[in-house]
Amino acid sequence: MLNVNALSIIINEKSILSDISFEAKDGQIMAIIGPSGAGKTSLLRCLALLDTPTRGEMTFGGAPLSTMQAGKVGIVFQGFHLFPHLTVRDNLILAPLCHKKDIKSALYEKAHTLLTQFGLHDHGYSYPHSLSGGQKQRVAIARALMMDPPILMFDEPTSALDPELVNDVAAIIQSLRQPNRVILVVTHEIRLARQVADQILFLDNGCLLDNVRKDVFFDTTSEDNNTLSPRALTFLSNLT
Ligand SMILES: Nc1ncnc2c1ncn2[C@@H]1O[C@H](COP(=O)(O)OP(=O)(O)OP(=O)(O)O)[C@@H](O)[C@H]1O
Ligand SMILES: [Mg+2]
Repeated sequence: MLNVNALSIIINEKSILSDISFEAKDGQIMAIIGPSGAGKTSLLRCLALLDTPTRGEMTFGGAPLSTMQAGKVGIVFQGFHLFPHLTVRDNLILAPLCHKKDIKSALYEKAHTLLTQFGLHDHGYSYPHSLSGGQKQRVAIARALMMDPPILMFDEPTSALDPELVNDVAAIIQSLRQPNRVILVVTHEIRLARQVADQILFLDNGCLLDNVRKDVFFDTTSEDNNTLSPRALTFLSNLT
């Protein structure tokens, strides 16, 4: 279980995240949605230990995230952030090699298995510039999986892709669901949130306004839907 408690980030006296608290159970997929500037990426960066919160705690299985072994949080960035000077397979083994997770030959073998799983077995020796957007994204996902992360996060996984690939991305994310893994997906793509998420976190202006089941969030005919924040209801009404 991932537990986030009273997480706040203040930069230059500006509140980026205010008192965010939520839990994500093992096996769960949570979609984080909200308007631009709401703090969605900031929340992921904090969980990935790329930014340090001003206040608050983040634990996984009861242990503070900050003390966990490196690589327990995998993140697929919005722009993929592949290293352009490394081949696909070297992109995959870089982090586990740095963390001495295994010997190089075993890591290449694991990279090959993951690339095969994502239909990229022919691209191990390719450089990122020669790949399509969808292929780069699958490389980025394979790279995040090299460390077997129990927390896996995606920032806007469909934003750089052809809209027709939304269903493919949804299928990939669903396939990564595991009983001992938490998946967080930041997305503007409501179709994706509907397809993959169990639970929706709605953020606005650095605040977590809603934390509800997917059906409650999206079913406008449900009575529970009336319990949503006015901001979420406005957000939803602008989508239709
Ligand atoms: N390092 C930083 N220094 C100053 N302000 C920052 C920093 N990082 C983020 N912010 C600000 O925090 C707010 C939230 O940014 P964030 O990138 O988390 O939003 P977001 O919800 O991911 O938006 P989008 O949907 O456009 O990606 C924005 O106003 C942004 O300018
Ligand atoms: Mg963002």
